[in-house]
Order: sequence, then structure tokens, then C-alpha cells
Amino acid sequence: TDVRGRSIFGTFFHAPAPGALEVLHEAVVSVDEKGTISRVIRRGEPGYEPARASADVRLSDGCYLLPGFVDLHIHAPQYPQLGQALDEPLEVWLQKYTFPLEARYANTDFAQRSYEALVADLLSHGTTTALYFATVHQEATRLLVDICLEKGQRALVGKVVMDDPATCPDYYRDDSAQAALADTRAFIDYVRAHPNNGESRVLPVVTPRFIPSCTDESLMGLGKIAAECDCHVQTHCSESDWEHGFVIERHGVTDAESLDRFGLLTRRTVLAHGTFITGPDMDRIAQRGSAVAHCPLSNVYFSSAVFPLRAALARGVRVGLGTDISGGPSASLFDSVRMAISAARMLEIGVNPDLPPEGRGRPDSRIDTATAFHLATAAGGDALDLPIGQFTAGYHFDAMLIDTRVPEGTLGTVAILAESSPEDILQKILYLATKPNITKVWVGGRGVTP
Ligand code: GUN
Ligand code: FE
Repeated sequence: TDVRGRSIFGTFFHAPAPGALEVLHEAVVSVDEKGTISRVIRRGEPGYEPARASADVRLSDGCYLLPGFVDLHIHAPQYPQLGQALDEPLEVWLQKYTFPLEARYANTDFAQRSYEALVADLLSHGTTTALYFATVHQEATRLLVDICLEKGQRALVGKVVMDDPATCPDYYRDDSAQAALADTRAFIDYVRAHPNNGESRVLPVVTPRFIPSCTDESLMGLGKIAAECDCHVQTHCSESDWEHGFVIERHGVTDAESLDRFGLLTRRTVLAHGTFITGPDMDRIAQRGSAVAHCPLSNVYFSSAVFPLRAALARGVRVGLGTDISGGPSASLFDSVRMAISAARMLEIGVNPDLPPEGRGRPDSRIDTATAFHLATAAGGDALDLPIGQFTAGYHFDAMLIDTRVPEGTLGTVAILAESSPEDILQKILYLATKPNITKVWVGGRGVTP
């Protein structure tokens, strides 16, 4: 059901800053006709009683509202191979499995089936915004835009650029740098002029796959397009030893510095992984206002290392969370939240029991649950420079309703401990919620799940 022009009475969780969980207990959130939050009234504030009495929607006991999740890095075409081929290194996985799969999106019937299933799955997992890599194909990438608009997901979509014949297979690459740049411009125009995109729910993204797959000519041209068209940018950055080393070998500098030279580090740039970024890289990324999409599940398989999240945050880098489908084997950002906490903990304690405890890990690396929740919501919005991810006036009402009392799964254990605090309940939601608990999802105040 639509909540545009209506007000909702219930308990809301959000985390506007790292480590800062806010519980809006029995609050009233009003949504305007455009789907933007117009007013948040907490218990005891002036006007609370009349607002509560006149609320249009009342949440039942055991139900809570969370901001919709922001998936900051996902490869839409890789959805069909989710859970497969996770036993190879990145460079082998790309050539042996991933490029052949992505090449199949030349077939728009295949693309349609795959993309429809993906977008529906993400929405029902509470992912209200996704920053997508598509494929090199113009038609299939436009189809992904159409499907997001039709299903109501907020999305940022990029036609992938990979034009270097030295690294990309003949059967799957742009014909030339010029063709890749012309295609990127045509795609940007398509998204911006789309008849169903009046609210700009879908945005175009300049998308060099990563430096190893692009020529200098295409990288330079994409930097220009990003500036001229004032577009978001996404790419992979220092993901693995192989990839990090490849760029240093080719350009004599790290990914971050090289991308910066091409004009590709902007306030609206999202760098996937960043596992091996250096201290100076972090400072550079922070200074440009760019963000890192932390993909803790994928990093286990293809980075073979843990992203130093706390260090990056301390140096002022914006960081959000990505599933990195299908590098990460889950469509649910809940799994990324859980893994972000586990990975940070493993980085702190170290994993090699042969070493003495004091030599095992990296101090000050753990994060708390509220920080992981922040990364999946408000931080993702901030990374994208969009007003999403929190229940604050002026932000889009993108939200999910969690019902802890459905019989499926184990989140029902909340009700056994009657004394659970709201903080306890949020922890249980983040760790135990599964699809059946996500009973309603809204984007811009519009219901987007059946
Ligand atoms: N680097 C370049 N392409 C990819 C991809 O599809 N997935 C991951 N994880 N890393 C990449
Ligand atoms: Fe990726």
C-alpha cells in the first residue's frame, strides 16, 4: 500500500551516524504526496498527541520500520551464477565464468528474465536502492533501467566499459574506445529522458569496469563525460593483489591515484572493494569526497584480505556496503551487514593460531552493530549524495517493515525475552531476519512488494 500523503505511527530504527543507533519509539512519521518525509514527531514533542491520534497507519506489536538498504555494489548480470564458482582467483573467475555469462546479455530475452528476477528478489530483501554494474550491451542495460522503473526500485545503472583488447575477450568487449564513449553518452541520455523517470528514480552511472579492462583513451573520455554530464561514477579499485599490482605495473601509481588523474574520483564516485588502498589513497579518496563500497563477503573470495574499514572511516573516507553479486554469494544486504561485523572482528583478532595473540591481528578494527547498520543505510545514501537511508524530514521514505512474529525463521525468539531493549531487538533483526520477516517495502512512499 501507498503511504504518500499519509502518516505512520510505530517504532522506527535508524543510524544517521556511525555507531549512533536512534530508536524512534512510538513516533509518527508523515510522508508527503511526493514520497518525501515531511515530519517526524517523537513521543513527548509538541503536537505528538494529535499526530498520534490521527495517524493513518499503525504498526502492530512486534513490527518495526527500518530504512531500506542501499546496495552500493552489485553486478546485475551475475545474478544467475549466485553461489557458483567461488573457488577460483579473480582473474580466472572473470575469464572462465563471468565474461561468458555477461556476454549472454546480448540476448534481451535472457536479460529480461534474469533482471526481472533479480530486482524482485532485491526488493523483497529490503534493498530499496542499488548501484548496478550492467554489461557492455546498450539494449540489455536499458532493459534493466526499464525494469527498475517498472518495479519501483531506486537504482543507479551503468553500461560497463571494457575496451582493451589486451585483457578483454573478443566475444565480450566494446568495439573501440570511441564506441564505448558514444554508447555511454547515449545511455545517459536514455535514462534522463525516460518517460517513466520523471522523479529521477533511476540515475545513469559512468562505469569503467576497472583499469585493467580499459584503455587510457576510454578512461580519459569517461572522466570527461562524468564532468560534463555531472554523473555518478563507479569502478573497482585495488580489489586484489593481482589487480592492485597490475595497475602499479601499467601506470606506475595505485588505482586511486590513477583514477584521480583521469578525473574519475569525484564526490559521486563509488569505488568497489578498495581492500588494498594505502593510507595516502584513503586521504586522496576522502579529499575528493568519493566513497568505498565495502563488500565483505566477496572480499573473502576475491580479495583474500579484509578491507581496513575502521582505518578508512578514521581518515574520513565515506564507506557503504555492497553485496558484489556474484562475487558475494547472497542477494541480501543483511548478510553483508553480518559479514562486515565478522570480518572486522577477524581483522582485529587475526586468524592464524600459530602466531602469539599480540602478533595476530590489527588493533582497533572491530565495528559494532549500529555501525554496520549505518553502513547499510545512511552511509550508502551519503556515498551516493542522495537523501535516503534515514527517517529525517526531507529524506525519501524508502523503508522496510520487519515483522518479528511471523512463524518462519528464528526472529520470533525476540518475543521469548520480554525484557529485550530496542537495541537488543535491532541486533536480533540484523542477525536473524529472513525474507518472510520483511513483510512490506516502500520506495518513495510507494509499496514495491506484493
Ligand atoms: N573486477 C572486475 N570485474 C569484476 C567483477 O565482475 N567482480 C569483481 N568482484 N571484481 C571485478
Ligand atoms: Fe564487483
